[in-house]
Amino acid sequence: MTARARSPLKLAVLISGRGSNMVAIAQACAQQQINARIVCVISDQPDAAGLEKAREMGLPTRIVNLQDFRTPQGIDRAAFDAELARVIDEAEPDLVVLAGFMRILSPPFVRRYEGRLLNIHPSLLPAYKGLHTHQRVLDAGEREHGASVHFVTAELDGGPVVMQGRVPVLPGDDAQALAARVNEMEWKLYPSVIGRIAEGSLQWSPP
Ligand code: GAR
Repeated sequence: MTARARSPLKLAVLISGRGSNMVAIAQACAQQQINARIVCVISDQPDAAGLEKAREMGLPTRIVNLQDFRTPQGIDRAAFDAELARVIDEAEPDLVVLAGFMRILSPPFVRRYEGRLLNIHPSLLPAYKGLHTHQRVLDAGEREHGASVHFVTAELDGGPVVMQGRVPVLPGDDAQALAARVNEMEWKLYPSVIGRIAEGSLQWSPP
């Protein structure tokens, strides 16, 4: 079967903020650079700037407001993840794409979408898991930085890496300048991985 003969890979894209990766993926779909389409953009933050961009592009959006799951003991993560899964499943995606979604997902959630859950992390994994990667890279005096697309497993930023993009660290960089360079590179990297999954040349194999 040729790539053209396949039906487009259906994507649910999860965001928490600006959503520039989501926009890059949506543009790659719209320009038929990749055989995929976004069936839903979901945010845990009702005021995420990316939601407005998604609406402007005519994409269906949903909000699963994290604050609705606040209890005196903190966020009820299990209830949040269950509602998130319900909203995702309603959209019937083939692939769940975390694009700047700043929540740690529970093991039952991750298991439910095993092999269909992709994340982009702003570092050359396994280096610099977690937050504030750009500043940590600068503090360590690294000459090179980048981003990794990986399948999500229960281990934070620990699932199998499928592709990485590299950028130089330049003299005079601050965290903001470095983040912008990484981010721009991500706009090519993430659609390219999704395109390969859509054409069947890249697939999940259980660890
Ligand atoms: C991206 O740089 C992505 O790698 C990072 O957040 C940014 C989101 O930008 N993700 C993480 O830090 C995940 N832990 P965007 O909202 O403009 O796509």
